[in-house]
Amino acid sequence: MSADERSLAARRMDAIGTSAHYDRRLAPYDIAASQAHVTMLHKQGIVPADAAAGLHRGLDLLKEQIETGADPLDPAAEDVHTAIEQYLETQIGADAGWLGTARARNDLAVTALRLWTRDQVGVLTGKVLALAEALATQAKQHSATVMPGFSHLQIAQPVTFGHVCLAYAETFLRDAERLRFVLALQDESPMGSAALAGTGFPIDRESVARSLGFARPTANSLESVGDRGFALDFLTAGASLALGLSRFGAEIVFWSSQPVGLISLPDELVSSSAALPHKRNPDAAELIRGKSGRVLGNLHTLQTVVKGLPLSYFRDLQEDKEPLFDTADTLVLSLDAAISIATLMRPNVDAMRAASDLSFVTSGDLADWLTRERKIPFREAHHLVTELVRLAKEHRLSLGELPLELRRGVDERLAFSEWPDITVYASVASRDSQGGTAPSRVLEAAAQLRSKLAEFTARAAAR
Ligand code: ARG
Repeated sequence: MSADERSLAARRMDAIGTSAHYDRRLAPYDIAASQAHVTMLHKQGIVPADAAAGLHRGLDLLKEQIETGADPLDPAAEDVHTAIEQYLETQIGADAGWLGTARARNDLAVTALRLWTRDQVGVLTGKVLALAEALATQAKQHSATVMPGFSHLQIAQPVTFGHVCLAYAETFLRDAERLRFVLALQDESPMGSAALAGTGFPIDRESVARSLGFARPTANSLESVGDRGFALDFLTAGASLALGLSRFGAEIVFWSSQPVGLISLPDELVSSSAALPHKRNPDAAELIRGKSGRVLGNLHTLQTVVKGLPLSYFRDLQEDKEPLFDTADTLVLSLDAAISIATLMRPNVDAMRAASDLSFVTSGDLADWLTRERKIPFREAHHLVTELVRLAKEHRLSLGELPLELRRGVDERLAFSEWPDITVYASVASRDSQGGTAPSRVLEAAAQLRSKLAEFTARAAAR
């Protein structure tokens, strides 16, 4: 083995082993965990007072520098945790060596990542709630704005724009709940698990857990250092959120497409085509949809990393960070764009009405009316209205214009002289069952959603 080969190998080991270029964002969380650890070590009589004070001084200084945007950590260190220990050595000398007592990088790294995840859950939840709020505002404003309701992307029945906005708000509210579960399920501190077996020092894991804002310490040191359940839960909740955002993006792309033209987006949220000057492409919505791919992929990445690992820590687990960071960053971008879309999109009220007011779109309402008012069994009523539609098409008339004599020809019971109100407005107003599209229900649902959002925010603040 030549010296050249060995130095090449060392460089290759560095290259594959380093996480310093992306784990720097964990520095504030390493500092928090380290400070809680030092405080406990001193209280337990494990670390002398002057060494503990020195460590706190060094960590405070680092925190301050990071907060002011400086980056004093050595970029050549293998990871952020090593870089912080090295930094402390340059600042306070040999006392820095006390910090490694009764801990390992294994429990430290996963604790820092849990703390980071908790903060990200807070950030994302705030944005998800803001998105739902923007949709609730649209719903309140447009509780009575009639638009086509689609199934199979075919116009099915008139609905209200407010009802549609609340449909998405409902999905996003559930995503906020899912994010909450991520924390509730893993509200535990791994600190003190040390390398994998715990430690012989008389540490107090409860106090460290509490000072870091966790409900309790983890129960099993072996599991704690290798478990990434919290990360997978975060990625799962993130994937669910990305799915909802992607569908919302797809909806916006469809609504704003030119022949559809149900909504308008402001100039700031569209781009023009380099080739075709008349175009207004809904790029923000398309990217929300497109970026969901990487968020779904990140979940798959970490599942695949973890699936073959027996207990406990393996270096494979260092690969947990990039998918997590990317999911959080991508969702922040997508949520911010979605909030702007939800706030600034404007329904084209006339186009919506015209599109929903297709001939025969309310034929179902006529069948309902025959059943309700004329006591004709619904299946039969449905069949009679099908006949009326056929007849109306043949005579190029709307249902309301079909003369009584023609109707009598289909069935004696259709020879009524008063014609039911089957305008699109009457249609939506009649669908006032709980959860229905009627303006009265939409206003009620928007108010209910608002109070759920307020409740959610209050609960999050009380944590
Ligand atoms: N950078 C490592 C990670 O994130 C830290 C833990 C290293 N532990 C070890 N035993 N090599 O996974």
